Amino acid sequence: MSDIYVLGSMNMDMTVVSPRFPKLGETINGHSFSTAHGGKGANQAVAAARLGANVSMCACIGKDANGKELKESLEYEGINTDYVFESDSSTGAAVITLVDGDNTIIVAKGANADVTCRQAELFLDKAKPGDILLVQLETDFKTVEYALKLAKSKKMITVLNPAPADPECSALCEFCDYIIPNETELKTITGNDDIEFSIRKIKDNYSCIPVATLGSQGCAFYRNESVVFLPCEKVKAVDTTGAGDTFCGAFCVALSNDEPIENCLKFALKCATLSVTKTGAQPSIPFLKDIK
Ligand code: RIB
Repeated sequence: MSDIYVLGSMNMDMTVVSPRFPKLGETINGHSFSTAHGGKGANQAVAAARLGANVSMCACIGKDANGKELKESLEYEGINTDYVFESDSSTGAAVITLVDGDNTIIVAKGANADVTCRQAELFLDKAKPGDILLVQLETDFKTVEYALKLAKSKKMITVLNPAPADPECSALCEFCDYIIPNETELKTITGNDDIEFSIRKIKDNYSCIPVATLGSQGCAFYRNESVVFLPCEKVKAVDTTGAGDTFCGAFCVALSNDEPIENCLKFALKCATLSVTKTGAQPSIPFLKDIK
């Protein structure tokens, strides 16, 4: 089993459950408020750790109570936090509105934007060929690019979850073995909302394998010149926050066990599907025993 290195964000999530999304300029009464540990990077690291992998995290937090709490929670999950740095910015935060299981999210990057190339270099210093680097786009773009290039030079397997969507991110495809966008992110990369066309376009232009996550419809990927759709089980979704992160973390765990891609995706779908049946980003991420 190879090791998993996650470079990414750590956020305190603040969620309001609401009967509907407010209109511009409108104030409405919500049902409830809660906080949970989140951030796409940390969620993916927690998913990989709970599913049995050896995980290290590179991130940046503020010198504040939220940062301390988030770092301690990763330690509790058994994740190596030696490369979770501190800066003078405040710890990242996400404001989430949850309506009937679906959400909108606004992230204030804060300290997440302060992870540097030098820190990424220190982080990957002991990485071996075949280890996995998993990144997203809630940290500094240049650092993500640098980390991907460095990982490729070390013959690591590189996985990019291009979230939040960024039109510039196609520039990263050449350094990725796998790219895992959702439908919105896929459209941002290719400029087209046809899933099959977009997957082919990425495959034709880059050497990476595209995997599109399609919410309750499962996922789609490229294999042997064709686009294959894999469905997932139907469940009652109470909160989709972090489902894509669970998918990415789980995918990397199966990959680290040398599973063929279709098995990796089936495992990732199962884990992500289970995660939407519970609320909160990290609280909803399943353990290996839940999957078995
Ligand atoms: O993908 C879900 C995550 O997006 C949340 O935990 C929030 O922090 C944002 O990063």
